[in-house]
Amino acid sequence: MYKSSAADLLAKALNKPAEETIKQIERPKQLQHGDYAFPCFALAKEKRQSPQTIAAELAAELSHEAFSAITAVGGYVNFTLDKKLAGSRVLKDIHQQRAAYGSTAIGKGQTVAIDLSSPNIAKPFSMGHLRSTVIGNSISLLLEKQGYGVVRINHVGDWGTQFGKLICAYEKWGEEEKVRANTIPELLKLYVRFHEEAAQDEQLEQEGRDWFRKLEQGDAYANKLWSWFRDVSMEEFGRVYELMGVHFDSDAGEAFYNDKMERVVEELEQKELLSLSEGAQVVRLDEYDLPPSLIKKKDGATLYATRDLAAAIYRKETYQFSKSLYVVGHEQRLHFQQLKIVLNKMGYDWAEGINHIPFGMVLQDGKKMSTRKGKLVLLDKVLEQAIQLAATNIAEKNPNLPDKEEVARQVGVGAVLFHDLKHERIHDIEFSLEDMLRVEGETGPYVQYTHARACTLLAKGSEFAGSSEVDEETGAAAWPILSLLLQFPDTVGNAAINYDPSRIAKYVIDLAQAFNSYYGKVRILEEDDKLGARVAVVEAVASVLEEGLRLLGIRAPRQM
Ligand code: ARG
Repeated sequence: MYKSSAADLLAKALNKPAEETIKQIERPKQLQHGDYAFPCFALAKEKRQSPQTIAAELAAELSHEAFSAITAVGGYVNFTLDKKLAGSRVLKDIHQQRAAYGSTAIGKGQTVAIDLSSPNIAKPFSMGHLRSTVIGNSISLLLEKQGYGVVRINHVGDWGTQFGKLICAYEKWGEEEKVRANTIPELLKLYVRFHEEAAQDEQLEQEGRDWFRKLEQGDAYANKLWSWFRDVSMEEFGRVYELMGVHFDSDAGEAFYNDKMERVVEELEQKELLSLSEGAQVVRLDEYDLPPSLIKKKDGATLYATRDLAAAIYRKETYQFSKSLYVVGHEQRLHFQQLKIVLNKMGYDWAEGINHIPFGMVLQDGKKMSTRKGKLVLLDKVLEQAIQLAATNIAEKNPNLPDKEEVARQVGVGAVLFHDLKHERIHDIEFSLEDMLRVEGETGPYVQYTHARACTLLAKGSEFAGSSEVDEETGAAAWPILSLLLQFPDTVGNAAINYDPSRIAKYVIDLAQAFNSYYGKVRILEEDDKLGARVAVVEAVASVLEEGLRLLGIRAPRQM
């Protein structure tokens, strides 16, 4: 809002469109340089004058009630907000809007389908799936805050040749008792063994494929085993989702598309997009310099890509999405490139709305964690440990805390989620349990703790809450906070547009740090005539920290 005031002023003075000037306005690195800066270097070239001269002239000419000063510094025009005015305004907005502060209606009437989490059954929930879950959930929340309708889809990996292999392995070496008692680890063992033995015995791969064909053709026994594996896996995943507070609108996994693929294959054929390659049916993508998209294997078995094609079309028909997002690791970049191109070739212009949202891998000693080798960190164990650690902290520091268990859950989960979300989405992360469990420094529990501290202050000063008029002194002392509060709506917007929750994570850390430093310097509950203003600052911080954490999928307990 203030940025556009500055842009308008500049536009008028320079006789240029405001859409142009607003793009050039920056945020000064240092707060004492004001709140917005307009660089004059491009203009200097245009006008053949020094940037300093232009900046000085502009600064002398411009004035606006929102700005207490407009000055020239080294080729920039710096705009300093009137702290009293802007501070009062933002506190009032937050006080009135509460959790809705920062919401927009940009996405009103539009639906976004988002494919997230999507673990593979009969395998443990991996760190990669954790990333997809928490990033996808946060993106969903960000989009909802922008007014979009969001459909969260868990495209569970419950179909494919690997289940033929698993059934084959179970048939050969499985013991029902053992599998019943400890399903996923036992199934994983069978799967690992299959690959070990298949390395020696070529016959085995073929047997695995045969079992998958039986499964696809509806063989009762194969399907019974498959259902069993699926049910147990879903139950186990459900526990993790519940711990994390994540829910889905659809659990339609890969198998859901079994009866929807034939239609797609026929359509591809009709549109003359299929060609034969070593017996397999493929869509060639030579003109894009890409390998072909595999639609059907030689033995008629469908593939991951076939199911994703059917799923994309089904989602369009069912949800009429304007965008369809896939929160999946960057290793699958080619797959989604191919998916989008094939849909385009089929003549679906809505394929433009298909968007792969890639993220970095979780590495162990610099390498990707692998399920096959069986070296895997189990997510529920990580969460359990984090919760346990939070419980121990509470028992030590705050044994009388009401609702201890729930708070321990919120803090433990907060630590794990925040650790993931604070990294820029696309970067690989080296796995470190120690880092995930940390509660100090730039962590979820640090932000949660700061929020709880603000709530405690509010409980004591509640009778003064509500007066949002900021005086000169409070405006100046609390400016680092007020300035961040002003930026929250833009931060939400940028995080949503870029599908990047790390911007919110960084923001809440900044706000928590600004607040803690204020708290260290100012006696907030001192009974003077500025008490009301200071309490209003605390109230706004608590509200925005809570909302920021919510957008990351993290709860903010009022006490901890
Ligand atoms: N289950 C897949 C995996 O673990 C991820 C599925 C992603 N979603 C999709 N529509 N392909 O690699």
